[in-house]
Parts: sequence; C-alpha cells; structure tokens
Amino acid sequence: MDSIVSLKSMGKVFHTKNGDVKALDDINLDINRGEIFGIIGLSGAGKSTLVRCINYLEVPTEGDVYFEGKPLKNMGEYGIRSVRRNMGMIFQQFNLLSQRNILNNVCFPLEISGVPRAAAVKRAKELLKLVGLSDREKAYPAQLSGGQKQRVAIARAIATNPKLLLCDEATSALDPKTTKQILDLIKDINKNMGITVIVITHEMKVIESICDRVAIIENSRIAEMGRVEDIFANPQSEIGKKLILGDVLPNKEIVSGVKLRIEFDGRSSFEPVLSNMILSCGIPVNILYAQTKDIGGSAVGHMIVQISGEEEAVKAKRYLDSIGVVYHEVELTEGKELID
Ligand SMILES: Nc1ncnc2c1ncn2[C@@H]1O[C@H](COP(=O)(O)OP(=O)(O)O)[C@@H](O)[C@H]1O
Ligand SMILES: [Mg+2]
Repeated sequence: MDSIVSLKSMGKVFHTKNGDVKALDDINLDINRGEIFGIIGLSGAGKSTLVRCINYLEVPTEGDVYFEGKPLKNMGEYGIRSVRRNMGMIFQQFNLLSQRNILNNVCFPLEISGVPRAAAVKRAKELLKLVGLSDREKAYPAQLSGGQKQRVAIARAIATNPKLLLCDEATSALDPKTTKQILDLIKDINKNMGITVIVITHEMKVIESICDRVAIIENSRIAEMGRVEDIFANPQSEIGKKLILGDVLPNKEIVSGVKLRIEFDGRSSFEPVLSNMILSCGIPVNILYAQTKDIGGSAVGHMIVQISGEEEAVKAKRYLDSIGVVYHEVELTEGKELID
C-alpha cells in the first residue's frame, strides 16, 4: 500500500517546569494515500500533539514522521516548509483572521506562497463556490455561523492544493446537523480532489460517518487500530469497548438493574455529576448510552446509566434530586427504546 505519511516509533515529551510530560509514546502508523483516517481518544490522550507532530508544529522527541517516504528530521527549515504546503489544517476554533473578509482569508495562504493577487482572487472565488459560500465573500468571520466559518477554514486549508488535510476536532463546536454537513463536505473533498484526510476527534459518530480506518489512542499510546467496521464490530481494547459501547445500543443481557435517563440542560457538567452519583450510591454506575456535548464545561444532552442494585438506585436518585438534575427511570427491553 502506498503510504503518504508514516510515523515510526514516534514519541513526544514536553519538558515543563513541573517535570516531563510524555504526550506520545511509540506511535507507529501508516496513513494510506487517499484514505480518511481517524484518530480517536479521550481528552488529554495526545491527539492534538500527534497531529501537530505530523506537520512538525511540534518536533517529535523520539522516532520520526515520514512524508512520502522522506523523514522530516534534518530536512531543514526550507524542506519542512515545502512539506507543510502539502498539509492543510483545520481546527475546532476555526482560527480565521478576524480583520480580513472571507475572500481575503482564503487568499491568505496563496499570498504567503507568492501567488499574484489576480490569480489568488480567482482561486479563492472558486474555492468559496466549492464550499457553498460564493454569496458571502465580503462578509467578515464574526458575521458567519460556526458551520460557515468552518467552510471558510476548509477553503483556506485546501487553497494551495495540499495532498493531506489535517482536521483537529473540526466539528466539535458544531451542532449535529452542521456537523453532518461539514463531514459531508470533507468526504466530497477527499473523493473528488483525492486529498488524504486525517480526522482527530473524541466522537465515535465522526469516525463512524466518514473514516475508512481508525486508531484509538489512550495515555499517549495507540491502543488499537484497524478498519472502522472491524473495530466497531469487535473492539479489543478496554478503551475501544468504552468508546464504542458508550455510543451504541446495549445488548439485552447487559441491561439489568435500574436504568436512569439523565438529562443535561447545560447547567452542570457531567463528570462531577457522574462521579458524585457513583460516590453517593457507593457502587459503579455503568453508562449504557450517552449523547452529550460539552459546551464550555457544561453538558447538554442525555445519558442512560445502569445501576445494579435497587437500594443504590434510591441513593443515586436522591443525589440527582438534591442537585436538581432531571432524570427518568427507563425500561429497556429492546435497544430501540434508547432512541427518541
Ligand atoms: N505544549 C505543551 N506543554 C506541556 N504539555 C503539553 C503541551 N501540549 C500538550 N501537553 C500535554 O500532553 C498531553 C496530551 O495533550 P493533547 O495532545 O492536547 O491531548 P488531546 O488533544 O488528546 O486532548 C496532555 O497531558 C497535555 O497536557
Ligand atoms: Mg486536542
């Protein structure tokens, strides 16, 4: 298989005043030309560091990155810059230039690489058409919705015809409908322009909807890797099971005990709620299903948890009552009831 990027025994240690932080450890990956490759993991797993190492915004402290077979180490400033021109990048926070209108945001990377103004404007207009924003070229970033900003960021990222598009949590700030539109656009760009895509996310549904293969990263290491359908059908690692079974419908046999559907309305953040609930009932609480979104530290959405004892469930309910979180007891005889 023709790989466009290879990571060989790559590691990254940050030296901080509070000691060393190992963000990546012994990462080995081959990204095939033309594929959409997903990297998933919980917050702090090392995902952003990994993607920043791919374009050498962070320099690995061990091993190396190979782009089209060539190691980036010892390539020198000039070589790294030419590799970076082949890698577009988009982010959760869009990172548009607020002082420039949309057209000039897309022109920016073209200006940097020395394209004459008239040609840059022509190219930028084509790209804005491609992402469906031809009518907004004079608008400024602040006047656009999140989805529109991400479209501009995509147009800007592919302006110089990169071979690779790196997406770091590109849909994490967007609602589900806009997420789907942006993922569809990324998929189109992959198929129609032949751009290889690396998608970093903490959301399984992003992996499921566009990726061909996925690597699951936990505590700085790759826990497992493979074709998305294989990993979904049969996750091997604990983290894989957690990420996948946390998002799909549970099997009948594991759904015993008391099931509570907890609603998060944005007034609380779900980690403390969950850990206090576990503390108050004194036994593990199993998350069967979660459809929550973290917006600036507060949770929105709902979660279904399973508590194995009646007595413990009473305590958990008492705790939820005390903090004013809405919940309902649910019966799960069939997985279908989880979807509403
Ligand atoms: N510049 C940095 N200096 C020190 N530590 C860092 C730096 N960047 C990331 N880290 C640490 O590396 C680990 C991985 O972070 P990151 O790659 O941002 O994870 P993720 O994107 O999966 O949430 C975390 O422990 C984080 O605190
Ligand atoms: Mg990150």
